[in-house]
Amino acid sequence: MPVARTINVELGDRSYPIIIGSGLLGGGFDLSAHVVGEDCLVVSNETVAPLYFGKLKDNLGDKTVESLNLPDGEAYKTTDTMHTILDKLVEIGANRDTTVIALGGGVVGDIVGFAAACYMRGVNFIQVPTTMLAQVDSSVGGKTGVNHAKGKNLVGAFYQPGVVLIDTDTLATLPDRELKAGLAEVIKYGAIVDIKFLAWLEENMAALLARDSEALASAIIRSCELKAELVAEDERESGRRVVLNFGHTFAHAIEHCLGYGEWLHGEAVAAGMVMAAKLSAIDSGDQNRLCALIEMAGLPVAPPKIDADKFLAAMRIDKKVIHKQLRFVLLKSLGEAFVTSSYDDNVLHKLLSASA
Ligand SMILES: NC(=O)c1ccc[n+]([C@@H]2O[C@H](COP(=O)([O-])OP(=O)(O)OC[C@H]3O[C@@H](n4cnc5c(N)ncnc54)[C@H](O)[C@@H]3O)[C@@H](O)[C@H]2O)c1
Ligand SMILES: [Zn+2]
Repeated sequence: MPVARTINVELGDRSYPIIIGSGLLGGGFDLSAHVVGEDCLVVSNETVAPLYFGKLKDNLGDKTVESLNLPDGEAYKTTDTMHTILDKLVEIGANRDTTVIALGGGVVGDIVGFAAACYMRGVNFIQVPTTMLAQVDSSVGGKTGVNHAKGKNLVGAFYQPGVVLIDTDTLATLPDRELKAGLAEVIKYGAIVDIKFLAWLEENMAALLARDSEALASAIIRSCELKAELVAEDERESGRRVVLNFGHTFAHAIEHCLGYGEWLHGEAVAAGMVMAAKLSAIDSGDQNRLCALIEMAGLPVAPPKIDADKFLAAMRIDKKVIHKQLRFVLLKSLGEAFVTSSYDDNVLHKLLSASA
């Protein structure tokens, strides 16, 4: 059996392990032991299923395995797509003992998790993330949901998986652009809570881009440890967890204004983090340091052209808005983030106008 690293997300009776390693799919890990009941539905998409569904089946032993493939893309992260999952669950006669398994990137994980949270008020759910972004971020922490025509991730639920199985070998087939997009969320952890990790990323960015397997595994493990800590501290984002949204107020507005799927989520987060750093009262040396690391990862450091009023209107739909007041996750220093509604309006307007 391949060696795997386990990180626990400590949430009382909803605690679960994240299993990380190489060679875990294709029978290298007994996932059937984590399947409650005898039946599972694996939901994937038309791109990922041909690559990994067969291998995942080898991890499920004697369980009865049904499958469903969704269309590929952020544009399909909708309630309509979620309904196709609910229809399938009804069609196969799924009950409370059925386990729903998401196999794919963050889009599949988010929609499938939401469907699992809703069907019969919640059925067992497992995440098998296959993108860098999903392995370091979206599969952990229980945020599930879909986009609404008016805004990103507006409809959803907190719903934790029972286990997250990360086979780092799946990254071998991931396009370069997607790998880089995932690195944006990795850089985010360094910027918000771990300056030592940020320095490690500066040292190892070339190795990560060259897909050095040890470097990738280290980055995934550290990211999952940090996310697990933040989630354990504040599962429903009523306090500390909000720092994970660093760069995301800008990013979600970019994704919304351009149309979902134009820029990848990670690309929008990259530009959004640079904007948030510039809005932070930190010294320009630190702003430039973060910007340089993002650039080194081959990610955008400026937003696309968007009309400033449109940009601002899109930001107002953000879930962090309280009493109509925008709130941002900003940096106290590089490696330490906080949330605030007090920021320099002039700098914000300059940042938004510079994009147009
Ligand atoms: N729930 C959360 O906490 C959270 C956190 C961050 C991001 N997200 C969400 O995640 C989504 C982005 O996820 P993503 O970046 O994984 O995008 P994605 O799910 O669209 O996957 C990117 C592309 O890679 C393909 N793919 C996936 N695995 C592959 C593999 N191993 N080999 C080849 N191709 C593969 C997919 O089919 C897709 O075309 C966004 O909707 C974002 O809002 C959620
Ligand atoms: Zn994100």
